[in-house]
Amino acid sequence: MSLQRTFKLANGHAIPAIGLGTWQSKPNEVFEAVKTAIQVGYRHIDGAAIYGNEKEVGDAIAQAGAARESLFVTSKLWNDSHHPQKVHQALDKTLSDLKLSYLDLYLVHWPLPFLVDESGKPVRNKESGAIELDTSFTFQDTWRELERAVEEGKVRSIGVSNFNVRRLKELLAFARIKPVVNQVELHPYLPQNELFEFAKANDILLTAYSPLGSGGSPNILEDEVIAQVAKKHGKTSAQTLISWAAQRGTSVIPKSVNPERIKANFEDFILDEADIEAINKLHLTKAKRYVDPKPFFGVDVFEN
Ligand code: A2P
Repeated sequence: MSLQRTFKLANGHAIPAIGLGTWQSKPNEVFEAVKTAIQVGYRHIDGAAIYGNEKEVGDAIAQAGAARESLFVTSKLWNDSHHPQKVHQALDKTLSDLKLSYLDLYLVHWPLPFLVDESGKPVRNKESGAIELDTSFTFQDTWRELERAVEEGKVRSIGVSNFNVRRLKELLAFARIKPVVNQVELHPYLPQNELFEFAKANDILLTAYSPLGSGGSPNILEDEVIAQVAKKHGKTSAQTLISWAAQRGTSVIPKSVNPERIKANFEDFILDEADIEAINKLHLTKAKRYVDPKPFFGVDVFEN
């Protein structure tokens, strides 16, 4: 059983520390995964329109039998719908697919307003192949639509994903309703300490995606230090990584479609100071970002 940690967002709403990630969960697998998760105690389900599985996530939420008010459901606005006239269309589609009247959290998935052609397909630069960005509106215009979604009761909290410090500063300067979450890749190989401190100082909670390394190489689940800490506590490496994230004060959304792993990932525990110290050093020699969309988008979104 999880320690049932929750974090209080800047607007007073509570977000469960551990949620179920659904990126890369196939539509035919995600239904059982979400149902299992809710049955074993998860109350936070993280999804996105682009994952292509929101209908199945919605079916599972409907059938799992948990009271809506007890759940925390997150979704994300895809890059092709930043245009102010498209935001509510995209949000309404997500709500309809999830069969919900409101979301707990709606995030801007990437700071990348794709330029789309008449059929809705992203336009690419003929020479570089990079996605063209739509400059006919600003991010402030997009954010105003998210603020309107809060005012209309479609969404309780709004936030962003994959934002760096520079972009957060820009957003904070004009936001009437502040972003309360920034969901980014976080694990001991990519702790993003500067972003973490900035977010904390500005009352933005970080949510850790790909906390287990998303199956990438080198596999953080096979890290010796993580394995040693896990062994010491009679836990698994996955449980250690999830506990590290939650204890650090980030909400964390491990993805799994395997019932045993879904259950085990919810059983976090308390790491001691020596464990945390050892884990916090890992990025100094093993820095690794597993998710960088540069090859697909052709844009250096993290501005490294
Ligand atoms: P599966 O869905 O078959 O369980 P991340 O959350 O970092 O994106 O990682 C997700 C990847 O880690 C998926 O491939 C998932 O596979 C796998 N995974 C999830 N939980 C565990 C676990 N407890 N032990 C090992 N692998 C896991």
